[in-house]
Amino acid sequence: MHLTVVTLFPDLVEALYAGGIAGRARERGLIRAGGVNPRDFTHDVHRTVDDRPYGGGPGMVMKVEPLLAAIAAAKSAAPAGTPVVMMSPQGQPFDQALAREFAALPGLILVAGRYEGVDERVLGAVDREVSIGDYVLSGGELAAMVVMDAVIRLLPGAVGDAASCTQDSFWDGLLDCPHYTRPETHATGEVPAVLRSGDHEAIRRWRLQQSLGRTWLRRPGLLAGRELTREQDRLLQDFIDNLGIDDPACG
Ligand code: 6GU
Repeated sequence: MHLTVVTLFPDLVEALYAGGIAGRARERGLIRAGGVNPRDFTHDVHRTVDDRPYGGGPGMVMKVEPLLAAIAAAKSAAPAGTPVVMMSPQGQPFDQALAREFAALPGLILVAGRYEGVDERVLGAVDREVSIGDYVLSGGELAAMVVMDAVIRLLPGAVGDAASCTQDSFWDGLLDCPHYTRPETHATGEVPAVLRSGDHEAIRRWRLQQSLGRTWLRRPGLLAGRELTREQDRLLQDFIDNLGIDDPACG
């Protein structure tokens, strides 16, 4: 997969590839990642990439010409079918479904704006706008890194154990279940007995129930538009009926 970020700060984005899953994915050739800097597409002596907004007001706006030239250069180096995605708080909310959609593409060109915004006319070269949440970042770089991290770990071979991806929160639209490792006993509590039982079917049911229960407690909106299977419905009802009775610390 071909990943390009159009950014005034390519070094900042490089940090994603310093180690971890993204770094290894690039080392192994699963992805080709790079940056294109609009400043390299300026022609004045000051290499100007921003200017004052028409109509007045605070802050600066990224100029249309260098940004369009950088996007065009990124497109010509990317495989056919690679969309241009503008990182923007005005965009479509990024979620796991969109991460999966992106992971199936031959490439992504992510445009990271800086300053107070970009000249609206740049959007003519943009296929979609994506936001990572309802808060304002100083620039799109961190948002682009979030999107790339979520996408890269979905690529076949990027994560050591493929199952660890499919069991993550949101893979199935539910929050993750609790996890434990040694020691079995600790001052803060015991590892739930079922996880030590060796009964794989009981463990599967417990984990599914915990995922459903946590989602119901913490993010009920995720369950709202969702049809539960008979098993899931029973497990969740059971979880709700036992709330306050089952102290998790008692295993
Ligand atoms: Cl994609 N960009 C910026 N600048 N701020 C954001 C964002 C993106 N998503 C949430 N806040």
